[in-house]
Amino acid sequence: MPNSSILLEARDLHKSYHKGRHEISVLRGVDLRVEEGELIAIVGASGSGKSTLLHLLGTLDVPDRGEVWFAGRRVDRLSASEKDRLRNCEIGFIFQFYHLLPELTLLENVLMPAMIQCSLWSWWLRRWEAHRRAWEWLDRLGLRKRARSRPQELSGGEMQRAAMARALMNRPRLLLADEPTGNLDLQSAQEVTALLRDLNRTHKLTIIMVTHNWELAQQADRVLRLAEGKLTPLTEPRNLSAALTCGGASP
Ligand SMILES: Nc1ncnc2c1ncn2[C@@H]1O[C@H](COP(=O)(O)OP(=O)(O)O)[C@@H](O)[C@H]1O
Ligand SMILES: [Mg+2]
Repeated sequence: MPNSSILLEARDLHKSYHKGRHEISVLRGVDLRVEEGELIAIVGASGSGKSTLLHLLGTLDVPDRGEVWFAGRRVDRLSASEKDRLRNCEIGFIFQFYHLLPELTLLENVLMPAMIQCSLWSWWLRRWEAHRRAWEWLDRLGLRKRARSRPQELSGGEMQRAAMARALMNRPRLLLADEPTGNLDLQSAQEVTALLRDLNRTHKLTIIMVTHNWELAQQADRVLRLAEGKLTPLTEPRNLSAALTCGGASP
């Protein structure tokens, strides 16, 4: 009988890459159970496999061995269209370099996940509700005045907040964030950190974030370290500091 408070579970994940004749074994038996509403930070050295792990958890890539379960359902072997649906509706992503579409305004970028969800006809019916929601998020993340700007006209902090609005547009249950403050100045990093914590608290949004940022990692309910292909809990603040230093640069 599955435990209903577990939103995401990874069981014995393995992943290797081939470079020429060499095989790089990146994940070697990762286990993870994430409860609904948890805020989890994953730390680890550059190249230790953190992005690889997030990609597997978010069904952007498939493990060589092991399983990923989301909301009581095994998801790593779903069909491509079922995975698309899962990623569009249940899982939001944010990345270090935002990945906004440069030719669209912020408002259009934020509307995109809602548009993708719909046929032409259902978009016609739902477009005003989608616009209302997009404006709500833009407001909430302090971007109302920037809604008609294109990404290249914005600061890094604004772009990351726009990426957050887009990720949250379809009300996902899980947010996966890969070094969300990795490219931001200190003040923007602090703003994004506060927003992530607030989203987790007020919306009970489950968040798994990879970070080198001490302040962000300290906000987490649990900090896990990825090293030598395995995830282990970090309990001592001393260990957190050491893990982040070996992981590389801040903010
Ligand atoms: N698509 C890929 N093809 C080949 N090697 C890859 C690929 N993605 C990642 N790697 C390698 O896997 C290792 C882990 O990468 P990554 O998950 O990006 O680490 P991290 O996010 O912790 O810096 C690195 O050695 C990287 O070069
Ligand atoms: Mg990475």
